[in-house]
Amino acid sequence: MNNKKFSVLIAGGGSTYTPGIVLTLLDHLDRFPIRKLKFYDNDENRQNIVADACAILLKERAPEIEFIATTDPKTAFTDVDFVMAQIRVGKYEMREKDEKISLKHGVVGQETTGPGGIAYGLRSIGGVLGLIDYMEKYSPNAWMLNYSNPAAIVAEATNRLRPNAKIINICDMPIGIMDRMAAILGLDSVKEMDFRYYGLNHFGWWTDIRDQEGNNLLPKLQEYVAKNGYLLPNNGDQDTEASWKSTFEKARDVYALDPKTLPNTYLKYYLYPQYVVKHADPNYTRTNEVQDGREKMVFGECRKISELQTAKDSHFKSDEHSTYIIDLCRAIAYNTHERMLVMTPNNGAVENLEVDAMVEVPCLIGANGPEPLAMGQADRFQKGLIEEQNHVEKLVVDAWVEHSYVKLWQAMSLCKIVPDAGVAREILDEMIEANKDFWPELKMDTIRI
Ligand code: NAD
Ligand code: G6P
Ligand code: MN
Repeated sequence: MNNKKFSVLIAGGGSTYTPGIVLTLLDHLDRFPIRKLKFYDNDENRQNIVADACAILLKERAPEIEFIATTDPKTAFTDVDFVMAQIRVGKYEMREKDEKISLKHGVVGQETTGPGGIAYGLRSIGGVLGLIDYMEKYSPNAWMLNYSNPAAIVAEATNRLRPNAKIINICDMPIGIMDRMAAILGLDSVKEMDFRYYGLNHFGWWTDIRDQEGNNLLPKLQEYVAKNGYLLPNNGDQDTEASWKSTFEKARDVYALDPKTLPNTYLKYYLYPQYVVKHADPNYTRTNEVQDGREKMVFGECRKISELQTAKDSHFKSDEHSTYIIDLCRAIAYNTHERMLVMTPNNGAVENLEVDAMVEVPCLIGANGPEPLAMGQADRFQKGLIEEQNHVEKLVVDAWVEHSYVKLWQAMSLCKIVPDAGVAREILDEMIEANKDFWPELKMDTIRI
């Protein structure tokens, strides 16, 4: 290991996740030393609330780290080793529209799945490509770890449109679920488990989970999930938000569809869309819950730090989401070849899926990025679902590239969550109007019906 200290840029500095990442970076300085930390955002006012608080925190905990918050791309992207990208193009205002427009038509309204995810994808592609271009211009040796959603569509777009970029698209859901698995099994850490997993982002399955001696842990977990889903044992979910609790519980019914594996929680939206719609409140969606919960808490805490001019009593703490990102930085920085789950071009990792699908599989992570491990064949059920969803994601990227209305309509109609091409078109037409500041202008390359 060398003595290098790293320069890190958080793109989307005004994100609700930023203070947690800063705290985690500070807690891990002995494993991942940093000399410079920068925030970049295109909303100066939003970013400043977080940056003012983080400046105080850094001054108290690690005054040797140079800290800059900026909206200027050149200042942000110059002299950077790692970019952590977490932008939300259109912010919560547009997320709310994604959810509510879909629900109005009786369709699941969700951040990364269904028409909401498609709409968000069309907004995110340009935003993330813009970040890559700045990085390549000002710090061509840097790596970007992107978790701006919808990560599956963003990964498809970056692989197609910037195939040589040093970007790894990642998600914390599988590691979050594995944390729960560790608690269910009574293990101290998720790192005590070896696993096999494959699929697309927010669309995958575990096929094997072992302890460090190689013993099979899957049957014990499956027995638990069949009864409790991924709810924590011993009433451990008392402080979990209602909507996440219901998602972890519903994993029981998702699991029932394939007793040989264990599913990602996001599959509930594809396999039980009617249940999800029935239990949704079209006037109070997840965005409202996040704004009244996470956003209020994070920004309130930031304002408090700025008022008191100290972070000594702040409630921010380091979290699993950020630890995963820092582990990934370390694996690249020190060429550790740690085995981690990330998105990567398939190239045979899942033998019977298309070579150019962006799959999520365990990879060895080193200085040159991810090396995917062979996960064998997808079973027929998974193969059918994955191919359909992957083609939806590819059609969204086609639509963005070609400015094609018909490709976007096809994407929404092919999507398992949408019942009918007529409904897809009604949602699409409303979304075009709502997204006119963010989407490319679409050509009317189909007939009027
Ligand atoms: P947020 O709205 O609080 O923060 C996003 C920030 O991005 C805002 O400050 C906004 O001004 C900024 N932004 C928007 N467009 C930008 C652009 N083009 N350039 C620079 N900055 C821009 O959102 P959040 O809830 O904290 O989530 C942040 C992102 O991280 C979202 O995309 C979310 O879906 C994603 N996320 C992903 C995972 C994962 O597992 N992949 C986990 C958590 C969060
Ligand atoms: C999980 C997913 C992310 C998602 C996040 C927050 O961690 O992997 O992709 O963005 O949850 O969702 P929320 O609804 O709380 O904003
Ligand atoms: Mn995710």
